[in-house]
Amino acid sequence: MSHAEGVNVQRRRVLIASTAVIGAAGVAAVATPFVRSWTPSAKAEAAGAAVNQDIGSIEAGQMIVVKYRGKPIYVVKRTEDMLAGLDDVKPLLSDPASEESLQPEYCKNPERSLSPEVLVVEGVCTHLGCAPNYRPDVGAADLGGNDWYGGFFCPCHGSKYDLAGRVFKGVPAPLNLPIPEYSMDGTILTIGEA
Ligand code: FES
Repeated sequence: MSHAEGVNVQRRRVLIASTAVIGAAGVAAVATPFVRSWTPSAKAEAAGAAVNQDIGSIEAGQMIVVKYRGKPIYVVKRTEDMLAGLDDVKPLLSDPASEESLQPEYCKNPERSLSPEVLVVEGVCTHLGCAPNYRPDVGAADLGGNDWYGGFFCPCHGSKYDLAGRVFKGVPAPLNLPIPEYSMDGTILTIGEA
């Protein structure tokens, strides 16, 4: 393999995605644009090259969006209160144990994650594919008041998900949000590789 080919392969293996950071307050009206500092070739993207993202600067309660295989991947740094709410909300959920949904085996746990404080989930509604809004505002009157512990709200047809991406009962979406393969090495999140 020539040097040039080697560099090319290396580039395809690790794509660096830049992110949009969304604060915990006033998120309902915030669009979630993607900005990438480096655009992979169509071939590399189709092949699903892994994406690295340093998440060390995400603050507790914040969400960033990373693009992977053309999909938005939501990464949320969950607080202790957010994690406590995952238990309280279970009676309202359609599949609280994630029996039906897509996730790696290592994420089939109450938090649906490798480490409890970091949620990595596809931001694609399982109804018809809209991007749900991040709504961490506990008790939001428009989302159920006392029954809202924070989560994601799909503006297209009103599906609701909790802060582990688990879908509520009685909404159009049939399944929990999928979780992609990923790994963590310190603060470096790699999406697309276990
Ligand atoms: S696409 Fe989300 S509720 Fe229909």
